[in-house]
Amino acid sequence: MLGVLGLCLLAVTRVLGQETGNHPEWDRWCGKVYEAGFPSFDPGGQTLPPTPVPGPPLLDVQFKPRYSLYLDSEKQGEFIVNAPLSQFFGKAWPDTKPGSSNKLVFSINLVSDDEPLVKNQVPINTTGNIFTFDLTRLSPSPDPIQVILTGGPAGDNADPTWTANSTILYLPSKPTGSATRIDNLNGGLFLANAASHRTFQPLFPYGFYASFDGFLANVTPTNTSAIDHYAGLGLNAMTPLTIYADGAPALDYMDAIDLKFMYDLREGYKNLTYVSEQALAARNAEAIFAYWSADEPDGWQDPFSAPTDAQAVLHALDPYHPVAVVLNCQDYYFGPYTAGADIIMEDVYPIGINSTFSKWGTACNATLGDCGCDNCKGGVWDVPDRLDDLSKYERWLNLWPKTKFHNPQSFHGEGYWARDPTPEEEWVMVLLAVNHGAKGIISWVWPASDILGVAHGELAKVLTVSPVVDFIVGGDTPHAIAVDVPEVDAAYWVVGKKMLISVVNGGNVAVNQTVTVSLPKKAKGIASVPWGGSTGWTLAGGKLSVPSLPALSTALLVLDISSCSEKRSA
Ligand SMILES: *[C@@H]1O[C@H](CO)[C@@H](O)[C@H](O)[C@H]1NC(C)=O
Ligand SMILES: *[C@@H]1O[C@H](CO)[C@@H](O)[C@H](O)[C@H]1NC(C)=O
Ligand SMILES: *[C@@H]1O[C@H](CO)[C@@H](O)[C@H](O)[C@H]1NC(C)=O
Ligand SMILES: *[C@@H]1O[C@H](CO)[C@@H](O)[C@H](O)[C@H]1NC(C)=O
Ligand SMILES: *[C@@H]1O[C@H](CO)[C@@H](O)[C@H](O)[C@H]1NC(C)=O
Ligand SMILES: *[C@@H]1O[C@H](CO)[C@@H](O)[C@H](O)[C@H]1NC(C)=O
Ligand SMILES: *[C@@H]1O[C@H](CO)[C@@H](O)[C@H](O)[C@H]1NC(C)=O
Repeated sequence: MLGVLGLCLLAVTRVLGQETGNHPEWDRWCGKVYEAGFPSFDPGGQTLPPTPVPGPPLLDVQFKPRYSLYLDSEKQGEFIVNAPLSQFFGKAWPDTKPGSSNKLVFSINLVSDDEPLVKNQVPINTTGNIFTFDLTRLSPSPDPIQVILTGGPAGDNADPTWTANSTILYLPSKPTGSATRIDNLNGGLFLANAASHRTFQPLFPYGFYASFDGFLANVTPTNTSAIDHYAGLGLNAMTPLTIYADGAPALDYMDAIDLKFMYDLREGYKNLTYVSEQALAARNAEAIFAYWSADEPDGWQDPFSAPTDAQAVLHALDPYHPVAVVLNCQDYYFGPYTAGADIIMEDVYPIGINSTFSKWGTACNATLGDCGCDNCKGGVWDVPDRLDDLSKYERWLNLWPKTKFHNPQSFHGEGYWARDPTPEEEWVMVLLAVNHGAKGIISWVWPASDILGVAHGELAKVLTVSPVVDFIVGGDTPHAIAVDVPEVDAAYWVVGKKMLISVVNGGNVAVNQTVTVSLPKKAKGIASVPWGGSTGWTLAGGKLSVPSLPALSTALLVLDISSCSEKRSA
């Protein structure tokens, strides 16, 4: 967060945090020297595509529990089994000829017990297969329970075999405080607390990082007007830049009004004594939904072990909440810096930047300089491009995709950012992020301008509640729809007999022609237009169209469709 408050850390940490990459003796950001007078060099840490393995396709079996945690009040769990064929990962599948066996017969067992939790089969080259199992076979425990999948071709279960490991959290229910779990199929968060009557509800957190000085410091047990104003805008979440020792009245009030918060550990996340003190203070809060450990560890070149060590302490003391890490860099040791993250956030601040020449007097490119937005072009498209990059690195490293948040730019200054984004740019960047998989929005930084506070509040009022949250968190992953107009981006989500369509014109010019969105499923009618209703969409002949699209415009439409959701395959 190289933002307003981040600046205070600059002087201290830029000297101390020089641990990874090349030339640690020089001050760097994302592994690159940013001051004039130094040579450009390869910063290292790029994530590279895997090398194809010659020969027949490989079967790559992976599985996980559907949710990152279950409570002992639940009786049934689910596993997700993926069995894609690839040329990169796994082991050669013998039966790829037509007519031969195309099923993997498998069982999932507790490592401690030979009685299978699941015994079933999956078609080869499919993902997202769901299997239920009896949770009451497990003993509730604060520690992860080891599970193993073993499988092979139908009719020959012994040779060759595939194995994969995973863990389940089956936690004792808590009398007080929240629990947040990640949907490992679609990536969204679900939270249970007193306000939700201890049932898990979909959560799309949408709010700001919020300053202590000048904002949270003004909150007292008898005067909560600062937070009331914030929540009144429609924002449902916050990352308070404070801890209990300073900001208890503000944090307690967020519990009281159920304003969800991510608890900030960044000031001391490398000090595990500090991390454990903070976890003990925060873990039973009603409104906490996650911890924030490392602030741009890739930018600061922090030791790789720092985020993973902090996560281990947090998981041990509080297995009920995920840990978020925010990245700044486009391509600097993605794997190591996200190893300690349950949620990956990105700080792509692309508005009003000079993407090619910095305030430090150097060029900015892949081997030199810091222009405020790493390897950015400048403009709204840097946001979805970054989310796509992060997902691509996960595929290249064969990692199970993690939940991702976008942190919108709601500030200017520091010699990097000449102006605030406009409301239209904010909405475009947020909805492009949602189309490209973001499951939460936390903007830097509050207090923001009134105009941006109102703008984010208006969109938050739509994204955080039904019907939209039931699609973007509750039901599906975004599927891209190709639209034959430059700079128009569209996606759909299907839940039951409804489909959400999101259309964004990210261009700075209006499209003065009919824009048609081809629908992946037959639609019967427009059920509602939760956002951008003034643009005149009509449905005819299985196509959604609009006579023109204003510059930087956004729309969300819910359609009635005929069929139910199909099973997705690889
Ligand atoms: C699963 O874990 C066991 C030990 O717990 C290990 O021997 C085995 O190699 C692991 N398998 C995979 C596929 O990671
Ligand atoms: C309550 O706090 C706000 C600042 O957050 C301040 O402007 C206002 O004057 C305070 N009200 C009272 C009655 O002290
Ligand atoms: C680490 O945190 C503890 C607890 O807050 C504190 O007492 C200690 O001084 C910190 N150590 C360092 C080196 O900052
Ligand atoms: C970036 O800064 C350089 C040097 O001041 C200037 O020549 C260039 O025109 C600027 N580019 C933009 C897009 O503002
Ligand atoms: C980055 O800019 C420096 C200075 O102009 C140049 O020497 C270097 O080759 C550039 N790197 C790339 C990857 O273009
Ligand atoms: C589209 O129409 C508007 C209003 O008539 C006009 O200002 C704009 O230049 C047109 N854009 C293009 C790309 O033709
Ligand atoms: C596996 O599925 C993918 C995605 O559907 C497809 O592109 C690919 O051709 C399939 N591979 C084989 C070997 O059938």
